[in-house]
Formats: sequence, C-alpha cells, structure tokens
Amino acid sequence: MNTLAVELNKTLEETVIFRLLSDFGKRFYFPKGIVSQSAEASKYATRFNATIGMATLGGKPMHLNSLKELIPDLPPEQIFSYAPTPGNPQLRELWLDDMIRKNPSLAGQNTSLPLVVSGLTHGISVLADLFAGPGDCVLVPDMFWGNYRLIFEERNMASISTFPFYNPQAGLNIEGLKDALNRIAGGKVILMLNFPNNPTGYSPTEWEARALVQLLKEQARKGLNILCVSDDAYFGLFYEKETHKESLFASLASLHENILAVKVDGATKEELVWGFRVGFLTFASPNIKTVEYDALDRKVMGAVRASISNSNNLTQNLLLRAMQSPDHREEKKAALAILKERYLKVKEITERLSSGSKLEPLPFNSGYFMTFRFGGSSTEKLRKKLLMEQGIGTISIQDRYLRVAYSSVDLHHLEELFEIIFKTAEELSS
Ligand SMILES: Cc1ncc(COP(=O)(O)O)c(C=O)c1O
Repeated sequence: MNTLAVELNKTLEETVIFRLLSDFGKRFYFPKGIVSQSAEASKYATRFNATIGMATLGGKPMHLNSLKELIPDLPPEQIFSYAPTPGNPQLRELWLDDMIRKNPSLAGQNTSLPLVVSGLTHGISVLADLFAGPGDCVLVPDMFWGNYRLIFEERNMASISTFPFYNPQAGLNIEGLKDALNRIAGGKVILMLNFPNNPTGYSPTEWEARALVQLLKEQARKGLNILCVSDDAYFGLFYEKETHKESLFASLASLHENILAVKVDGATKEELVWGFRVGFLTFASPNIKTVEYDALDRKVMGAVRASISNSNNLTQNLLLRAMQSPDHREEKKAALAILKERYLKVKEITERLSSGSKLEPLPFNSGYFMTFRFGGSSTEKLRKKLLMEQGIGTISIQDRYLRVAYSSVDLHHLEELFEIIFKTAEELSS
C-alpha cells in the first residue's frame, strides 16, 4: 500500500470512517503529483510557474475568442482553466452556508466542507468506490433510482438489499427498515435515503423522519456501523405542510459515532442546471476532528482525481455568480411555485380519476414524480401502448409500476395527459 494511504489510514484508524472504508477506500490517497505540486506552486512560485499542463499568454489562459465572446462576463481563468480537484473554494463555502440556511438545525454541527463532484451520480459513484465492495450490503427501499444498482452492484460488486418502501397504511415503512437492519450481518451497512424519492415522489412526514432517526440511533447503539447517504437530488421540492423539510443529513450528522452521514446534493435539480454537472459531497459524524475530515477529503480527492481529475470550472463559476445574485432566491421560489401548482393539479386529477381504476396512485407529496401501481396486466405493455398509440412517454418499473414525471409537462396539459393514461389503462384491462 502506498505510504500516503498508510498515513491517512493511521489518522482515521479510530473513527467510523475507517470501519466503513472498502479495500479501495483504504488504498486511496491524493498523490503528491502534478496537481498537488502545482497547487503549492500557485502559492509560492512568484517568478515563473512552469508546473501545470495549460497554455498561458501574459499570465492568462490562452483561449479562442469565438468561445470567450459567448461568456463575456467571466474572466478567462474562470472559463478555461482547470478547477481545483476538491472544487472552487468560494463555491464550497457558499454551498455550505446555503445548506445551513436551508437546514437550520445544521448550524453549529461538525461537518466537512462540501467537496465538488461532477453531479450527484459521480458523487454516489465516488462513495461506492470508497465504501462499497464485494460482501458489503447496500440497503435501499424497493422503490429506488435504478442507477444505484449499476453503481453499487455492477460497478463495485456490493449487494443491494431492499425493503418495502410503504407500510400497508401508506406511510414510510419504518418497521420494514427495522427488520432489514436487524438482518444485516458483519456490522456494516450502507443505507441510501433518497427524499424526495425517485420514483415515488414521497418524502417522510415530521413524525416519520423522527421515527427513522430514532431507529438508526438504536441500531448504531447496538454496534452497527452505518454509512447513511442522503441523496438529496430533489431537495427543497416539498409541497405539503406536514412534510419534513430539512435533509435527514441534518438529523444524522451528530447522531452517533457509529454513523457517518453523507449528503450528496448538487445544483442539478436544485438550481435547474441538469447539464452543468456540479454536485457536492459533505460528511458528518460526531467527534470527527479536522485532521480526520482532511484525511477523508484526501481519499475523496484521490477518487475524483482517478476518475474525472476535476469538475467543470466554467459551470462552478457560473453557479457561484448566480448564487451571489440578489435575484437568485426569488427566482428559485418562482420555479418552486410552478412545480407546486402542477403537483396540486396532479393530486386533484389522480384522486378524481383513480376511483374504480386499476391504476392506483402511490402516496406522493414532493419532487418531480408520481407513480401508479397497476392492478391490470403489465406496465411495460401500458407504457408501449401509451407511447405508440398516444405519443405519451412514461416509465415502466418492474412491470408493475408506472412513473409519470409531471415536472416535465406544462400545467395546462396535465388533465389531458392523465385522462389518456387512465383511459389507456382501462382499455388494456378490459
Ligand atoms: C435520486 C437521484 N439521485 C441522483 C440523480 C443524478 O443526479 P445528477 O444528474 O446530478 O448526476 C438523479 C437523477 O435523475 C436521481 O433521480
């Protein structure tokens, strides 16, 4: 093992971080290579900096004017240069401040500084590298974003285990999670918590969130080491009063020393910039010291360096500028209001049309989606029929569920969309 990895592991030895690391995670470190030497040179090389693989002219990155003209408000170094491996330092600070503003109970808690990754998918993939390997269990509710399987199982050879998402009374299935956690062998689990959920569009109520946190505390007390990942891709899109409106990360951050909480979030959906590829990883666990967070950051930076080297500099700078704009919060509020209006409409339509139908809307209260359980034949047949005969695209899941992304259909088309979906399901069932 590289001596830098040995040093990092020694720093982490007594922490939950070390107990959770995969073999890959234990091997990883951030090399004292080009990036690290060049970062040092940018501080001390007052004469000439001949370190990095970039072409410069008069101290600025060389560039083509045909590109520069497209982005007149940013200086060339914010457009064309590489970003630091852990991300733009100002953006990292601002993202943390904003996270605390949106999750007030995080204030004063001991978290790491968000580290930039290239979108949430990349963040999850880096987590999988560092913490999940053969023999590790990744626990998810049975309604989950399909990419988890590709990342954790196919890429990192961990095993996904599921429990039913809803309890029979239609709320979140805390008892099911408890049973699944009680079955974990080996003292380690990776728990993926994604709220608002893809595909169901469900987020826990205040009561459910409290019960979930209490359950995790009990499990940690019994000696289970838990990596609790809050996949907050759709954070903030909450439409109902009783919904828990903070990230579970805030409640898990200081919960127990056997719990390492991670918040995977990003600009993708929160800032309406799907193609920008700016995401963040933030860690928290009680009693973790700054040197220990630094050691973990260096492992994350190693995984970033080995996969994409660094994230997009231009989009980080655009995001930073936008977040500093005085109009930013009002613009986001307006976007949320549009989505909430659609949600309320979909709620009303589906309640009205579902009585006596084979399409049963599963509980939803947040995010982009709603999902039907189909009591007729196959949702793959329904999807195909909707697509080929009606020109309507939906997603079939496990041949039993149909996901509708109302986030991508304008308000005035929703009535027509759902009427056709119900009518087509009826035709297929009769
Ligand atoms: C639950 C969930 N997590 C993560 C992502 C991926 O986000 P990104 O586009 O930033 O990689 C998505 C996107 O569809 C998602 O639904």
